[in-house]
Amino acid sequence: MTRTAPLTTDDLTAGAPVHDPAASGEWWRDAVIYQVYPRSFADGDGDGIGDLPGVTAKLDHLKGLGVDAVWLSPFYRSPQKDAGYDVADYRDIDPLFGTLADFDEMLAGAHERGLRIIVDLVPNHSSDQHVWFQEALAAAPGSAARDRYLFRDGRGPAGDEPPNNWQSIFGGPAWTRLAPREDDGPLGPQWYLHLFDSSQPDLNWENPEVHTEFEDVLRFWLDRGVDGFRVDVAHGMVKAAGLPDWDGRAAMVEGTVDEPATDPAAPEDGSTGAGNQGPMFDQDGVHEIYRSWHRVLEEYPGDRCLVAEAWVEPLSRLARYVRPDEMHQAFNFSFLTAPWDAARLRTVVSVSLDTMDAVGAPTTWVLSNHDVVRHASRFGLAEIGGRQLNGIAATDPQPDAELGLRRARAATLLMLGLPGSAYVYQGEELGLPDHTALPAEVRQDPSFFRTDGAEPGRDGCRVPLPWVGGAPGNGFGPSGRTWLPQPGVYADLAADQQYGVAGSTYEMYRTALELRRAEKIGTAGLAWVDALAGSPDVVAFHVAGVVVLANLGATPVALPAETDVLVASGDLVDGAVPSDTTVWLRV
Ligand code: GLC
Repeated sequence: MTRTAPLTTDDLTAGAPVHDPAASGEWWRDAVIYQVYPRSFADGDGDGIGDLPGVTAKLDHLKGLGVDAVWLSPFYRSPQKDAGYDVADYRDIDPLFGTLADFDEMLAGAHERGLRIIVDLVPNHSSDQHVWFQEALAAAPGSAARDRYLFRDGRGPAGDEPPNNWQSIFGGPAWTRLAPREDDGPLGPQWYLHLFDSSQPDLNWENPEVHTEFEDVLRFWLDRGVDGFRVDVAHGMVKAAGLPDWDGRAAMVEGTVDEPATDPAAPEDGSTGAGNQGPMFDQDGVHEIYRSWHRVLEEYPGDRCLVAEAWVEPLSRLARYVRPDEMHQAFNFSFLTAPWDAARLRTVVSVSLDTMDAVGAPTTWVLSNHDVVRHASRFGLAEIGGRQLNGIAATDPQPDAELGLRRARAATLLMLGLPGSAYVYQGEELGLPDHTALPAEVRQDPSFFRTDGAEPGRDGCRVPLPWVGGAPGNGFGPSGRTWLPQPGVYADLAADQQYGVAGSTYEMYRTALELRRAEKIGTAGLAWVDALAGSPDVVAFHVAGVVVLANLGATPVALPAETDVLVASGDLVDGAVPSDTTVWLRV
């Protein structure tokens, strides 16, 4: 392969800053936050499902990795129809995961190690097993109990058509009709709205009682000492008045990538343009809710924070969730869905920083979570980019594992070099891929069932973590049981196979996180390397005292002599950065 002429130090000169250092010092502005998906992190009791004692037992792994905070997906009482995102009691722990005492112990253990804890709040919908929904079912149409949810009469003379044409994000209609009762009127039983599974009825945020209840839930966990909340479906709670018909199909993850930014039709912010523009999303009314929650958090000491999970594009709409009196951070899904393309990445980074700077909020960066195909698998697909975010089935084209891991490591090193706050999904520090060939009979995601298997669903990224390579269940828990099977490759990627091993993905994350902290990258400014700002292959920028350089092209990029390489996502070849490799340099 031909090499370009070596870069000189002059070639790496910084251009004008495109982002100024963060003004104030709240911890969440530059935190690296690790997502624990409790059922798949570590199993303490041997039932094959992870739990809170499992998390407590592994806190030293997180401390050693060097993250600042942990966000835990839901562990509340739940029938687990959507893996806990169907909450039956917002103030208690599901026995599957332990007890409130186990939670307190986990929280204390984290705080002792200087790790903050963010819990998940699911306010758009409850479980159908929540006492409120059970009361609503027992009560008459028009009652106060029904008004906590979105019950409506059906359309048509007999009321047997759904109240509108909305589709569930998990597939099928967004309305379910109640069973007939003797006191039904001429329109028969009512229907209730569920943007997700039929076991997840949407709450009515026009009802003041719903507001009071959730403020109380916030206080319950703040009083226990949590440092913040990740707010589920933060763009969905308020629906357009009259619930008008909409012909679009709401999707949590659109999974499509539009043309590169050179396409005149592509959104200027480098986002996918997929958007969620229907009458169930991103309504102005949601912002008043976040203003009131902001005030609740301010009653507590210590910079507690709210993080929006809002699949909203373009980024200028997302920025409205993090205005100074609303939430503190929002997941940057425009970054997550960006393809492995130098121009697109530069655009999404610039626009993200600009847009969030304009409202005084930190930009966040994220590549994986429990809802999307892990980036080590995503980037190994022939169709590079955000395609197939929703899961990969055994019958789909399979990712190239080696290419995927190589690009994932390069993408991670680029991400951790960006100022702001970054999210790491459990297992990505081991370079884990999805299980891309799960048999149908073990799948559990409701989206698989509601689409009759047309969508594989998200189980592939939720496989229990390997801690001890080759042990039963790769050391997930004491019994060797795992609620989903692990792919064979997890034995080699287990944590114990990587600790202290030079060049392992774990050690790359650890080194990068250590440098990120030492160099204060999270609160630094950013300036593009001018000479490479139009390169189709290279993304390069200055941050703090470091140059981050990612080579996405086929041709190796030769570095100036005397360059100090601080960390690299792959081995350099004769002083050149090979294809799909990122380096942090001191020049
Ligand atoms: C969020 C969660 C996802 C869940 C959905 C419904 O998008 O991240 O896992 O299925 O909300 O609560």
